[in-house]
Amino acid sequence: RLLGGADLPLAGRHVLVTSGPTHEPIDPVRYIANRSSGRQGHAIAAAAAAAGARVTLVSGPVAIAPPAGVTTVEVETAREMLAAVEAALPADAAVFAAAVADWRTAGEAAQKMKKNGKGTPQLALVENPDILATIAHRAEQRPGLVVGFAAETEKVVEHARQKRLRKGCNWIVANDVGPGTGVMGGTRNTVHLVTGEGVEDWPTMDKDEVARRLVARIAAAMPKGSA
Ligand code: CTP
Ligand code: CA
Repeated sequence: RLLGGADLPLAGRHVLVTSGPTHEPIDPVRYIANRSSGRQGHAIAAAAAAAGARVTLVSGPVAIAPPAGVTTVEVETAREMLAAVEAALPADAAVFAAAVADWRTAGEAAQKMKKNGKGTPQLALVENPDILATIAHRAEQRPGLVVGFAAETEKVVEHARQKRLRKGCNWIVANDVGPGTGVMGGTRNTVHLVTGEGVEDWPTMDKDEVARRLVARIAAAMPKGSA
């Protein structure tokens, strides 16, 4: 069997995927998080493995099982996710599907915060590292192809275009996650692939199918014969 042929187009490649939310502790029993089931990211990791790639999946806390045939690194916070991603480099392609919390508390309380009758606590927040931008702007070990996601509730493509330039990634997979779309936690997704060439509107399909199509595009974009 010919490796790297049409059946296993990502044979010999290392693909890195982030998935799920991050949890940023407030105190030992509370956290800040984004909504994310991890379905889309996990499906991309599984599709890349099915295409023959060695896959590292760096995942925040999710309720779904890690895909078979994939090395899964479980993390909790954005800072842990960045460290795990850096430890997994080099990679031929990296897909950042995680819904990373933009902020964490300035300091985690060592003990559970208690109601004390003197009003509500004020949480001071600090910005988390931008994992995608950090990796995309690396001078050393930048993956050949860097793909980000943009979950938007309005002006989806416009925001995704700006995000692609700002983050320094090759492509952005943009999706509308507004209320009523059913994308959050659901099994189907409607995405737009924003590349340097322009914007492709993909029809609504299962997240597994989005994953397979994206992986096929990634395989087609790999430099020939260097795996
Ligand atoms: N991302 C990341 N690290 C962060 C924030 C976002 O790696 N700290 C990645 C996401 O995984 C996604 C992309 O950046 O691939 C876009 O995330 P998004 O939340 O849409 O963009 P932000 O830059 O955080 O902008 P905003 O939330 O303000 O729209
Ligand atoms: Ca964000």
